[in-house]
Amino acid sequence: MNSTTPSSPSQYTWAGRFSEPMSDLVKRYTASVDFDQRMWRQDIRGSLAHAKMLARQGIISAADIADIERGMAQVIAEIEAGAFEWSLDLEDVHLNIEKRLTTLVGDAGKRLHTGRSRNDQVATDIRLYLRDAIDAILALLKQFQSNLLDLAEREAATPMPGFTHLQVAQPITFGHHLLAWFEMTRRDAERFADVRKRTNRLPLGAAALAGTTYPIDREFVAAELGFEGVCENSLDAVSDRDFAIEFCAAAALLMMHFSRMSEELVLWMTPRIGFVRIADRFCTGSSIMPQKKNPDVPELARGKTGRVYGHLTTLLTLMKGQPLAYNKDNQEDKEPLFDAVDTVTDTLRIFADMIPGITARPENMRDALRQGFATATDLADYLVRKGLPFRDAHEAVGIAVRRAEELGVDLPELPLDVLKSFSPLVGDDVFSVLTVEGSLASRNHIGGTAPDQVRSAIARARQRM
Ligand code: ARG
Repeated sequence: MNSTTPSSPSQYTWAGRFSEPMSDLVKRYTASVDFDQRMWRQDIRGSLAHAKMLARQGIISAADIADIERGMAQVIAEIEAGAFEWSLDLEDVHLNIEKRLTTLVGDAGKRLHTGRSRNDQVATDIRLYLRDAIDAILALLKQFQSNLLDLAEREAATPMPGFTHLQVAQPITFGHHLLAWFEMTRRDAERFADVRKRTNRLPLGAAALAGTTYPIDREFVAAELGFEGVCENSLDAVSDRDFAIEFCAAAALLMMHFSRMSEELVLWMTPRIGFVRIADRFCTGSSIMPQKKNPDVPELARGKTGRVYGHLTTLLTLMKGQPLAYNKDNQEDKEPLFDAVDTVTDTLRIFADMIPGITARPENMRDALRQGFATATDLADYLVRKGLPFRDAHEAVGIAVRRAEELGVDLPELPLDVLKSFSPLVGDDVFSVLTVEGSLASRNHIGGTAPDQVRSAIARARQRM
């Protein structure tokens, strides 16, 4: 072995041009196989579609494509069996698979890379990977939403306090509250479906950056891989990762929503509030305090939101300084993207499971309503219906609430003559609006909290799904 002999198979790939081997540190620094091997299925799918096109176009022979397909079948079997040896020397998933194919089938394996570059190859792999991930996320979102609608239906008429400023505001139903969560995630699903459209375009054919001299058929490859079309410009095709950034933006918004839900669950679980129980399998105990039951799952979802925001910032920053076309910077897109995929996927899976494990504690919800004078607005509206201007009604009811607070009772517990002392417009019918049920039933329009409205909102939501 003299000094120009490549020390590793990786260098063999481009050995002709090089006069000395890479140090181990540089090898480790530049390699991506540890994390990009998770795209092996997409890499092979892309390669097979490319090879099929090469054969159809007469660029490689029928014997070559047969060899490539046979070899790839074996590579797939080896990877699935855990028998594939991933090598850092071969830098990334693409070179590892290509090298193994060549070992298995010889020259046909060496012809696979005709008219292709790792630049358009990796861009294709990521898009295929992300498309699969989005489909899985959409299916999980649907599962979560369907479980949420079941719970909302069970609790369609369960009164609880609605809050503003975390102060008791007005009565709502628990079902109505859950439908707010549903709406948040409906928009999340729309966003992911939208990202999917722009992700679903084929970069292959762009080759390194300028296209290729072979008579390729990009439309054929696009159709083979289920892409909606081809990336129209070769420089853009290999370089931009805006679709991954968009994905992380959608993921960040989704996590923001799940973090808000989590925050509510944590609050509702605290014994001082006690609005819900969460099944034990989603909670943990304390190593020192025997009485504790901690809502770890929602707390972690809230905590993990931060890393997804981080990944969005990472990718935006990764992209912003890059001149056209491909730069190795882009290899850094994968770990943040994969972690965003994993975090969203795990969070959705665990929340979908957890929703049926949530039980309402209606007695505590009602206690909180009673202590919060939740029907004060209803009393004001009542006075307005009797002719009082709203601002005057607001003031009269404010005085009534102060009095009730002094007496330590809720508004409907004040005797009629006391209520009348705040406004001569108060009549015997006042108690019907002061009850929680009356208050709920009167908010009877689309988007309102009346139990009937909640039930029809659930029906509409089910229909749309
Ligand atoms: N591992 C590389 C990446 O993730 C593949 C593309 C390499 N291309 C190159 N010209 N070095 O982006």
